[in-house]
Amino acid sequence: MPMLGLGTWQLTHDTAATVEEALRLGYRMIDTAVDYETQPGIGEGIRRSGLDRQDFYLVTKVEENEDAYRGTVRDLRELDLDHADLMLLHRPPPGGAGQELWAGLIRAKEDGLTRDIGVSNYKIEQIEELIDATGEVPTVNQIEWTPFGWSPQMLDYCRQRRIVVQAYSPLTRAERLTDDKLAGIASEYGKSPAQVLIRWNLQRGVSAIPKANRRDHLTENLEVFDFELADTHMEQLNGLDEHWSALGPAPMYV
Ligand SMILES: NC(=O)c1ccc[n+]([C@@H]2O[C@H](COP(=O)([O-])OP(=O)(O)OC[C@H]3O[C@@H](n4cnc5c(N)ncnc54)[C@H](OP(=O)(O)O)[C@@H]3O)[C@@H](O)[C@H]2O)c1
Repeated sequence: MPMLGLGTWQLTHDTAATVEEALRLGYRMIDTAVDYETQPGIGEGIRRSGLDRQDFYLVTKVEENEDAYRGTVRDLRELDLDHADLMLLHRPPPGGAGQELWAGLIRAKEDGLTRDIGVSNYKIEQIEELIDATGEVPTVNQIEWTPFGWSPQMLDYCRQRRIVVQAYSPLTRAERLTDDKLAGIASEYGKSPAQVLIRWNLQRGVSAIPKANRRDHLTENLEVFDFELADTHMEQLNGLDEHWSALGPAPMYV
C-alpha cells in the first residue's frame, strides 16, 4: 500500500481531470466514498490515465446504514472497477462496532471484490470487538490525525496490532496551516506547513491522504521525500496535541 494518497472529499469540480493529473504527477493511491460523489469521476480519471490496474491503490468505503457487501458492489459499479484495494467501514454504526457490516466486508474480500478491508473513525474498543467476533484484523484505521489532534494510545495500539493508521484531514482542512510553531519548523527546512504535516505522518509510519484541487497543491504535497524532520522537531510537533478536530469537538476515536 502506498503511504501517500489523494483525498477526494469535495473534489467534485472536474474530478476526472484532477485524478488524471494526480496520477500523471505520481500519486498512486486515491481515497473516496460513495457520499463524496467522486467515484464516477475517479473511474474516468483512472481510465484516461491509462495506468494498469496493479499500478494504483483504490480506497473506498461503505456506509453504516447499508449492507456492506451490496455497498461494495455499488462502489465498484460507480468506479467501473472489478475490485478495490481497500474497503473501509466509513464509521461505526450508532451503539455498536458493526459486526454484521464487518462480516459483509470479510465476504467481499473472500469473493475477490477487495484485497484488503479496514475501518474508519473506530475507537480501540470497537476494533477489538470486531476482531473478537471474527478473528479478522482490519488492515487500516482511517482517522482524523494531525499534530493538533492525535492519540499516542491509538498509535501504540495500531502498531501492536499491525494496523496502519491512515490520516484523514492531514492538512487540518487548511485551518491550522498558519500556526506559528508549525510555520516556524517549516521555514527551517524551506518547506511549507502542509509538507511538514505530511512528513510528520510518513516519518511515524502513518499514511496520509491530503486532498488538493489546485495543481500547485497537488505537486507540493508529493514533494515530501527529499527532507527529514529532526527528532526535536518531531517531538515539538507531537507536543501540539490538543484533541483538536476540524470536523467536530474532538477526533471521533478519542
Ligand atoms: N473517513 C472519513 O470519515 C474522512 C473524513 C474526512 C476526510 N476524509 C478523507 O481525507 C481526505 C483529506 O481530508 P480533507 O479533504 O478533509 O482535508 P485536508 O486534506 O486536510 O485539507 C484539504 C484542504 O487543504 C488545501 N490544501 C491542499 N494542499 C495544500 C497545500 N500544499 N497548501 C495549502 N493548502 C493546501 C486544499 O485546497 P485545494 O483543494 O484548493 O487545493 C483543501 O482546502 C478527504 O478528501 C477524504 O478523502 C475521510
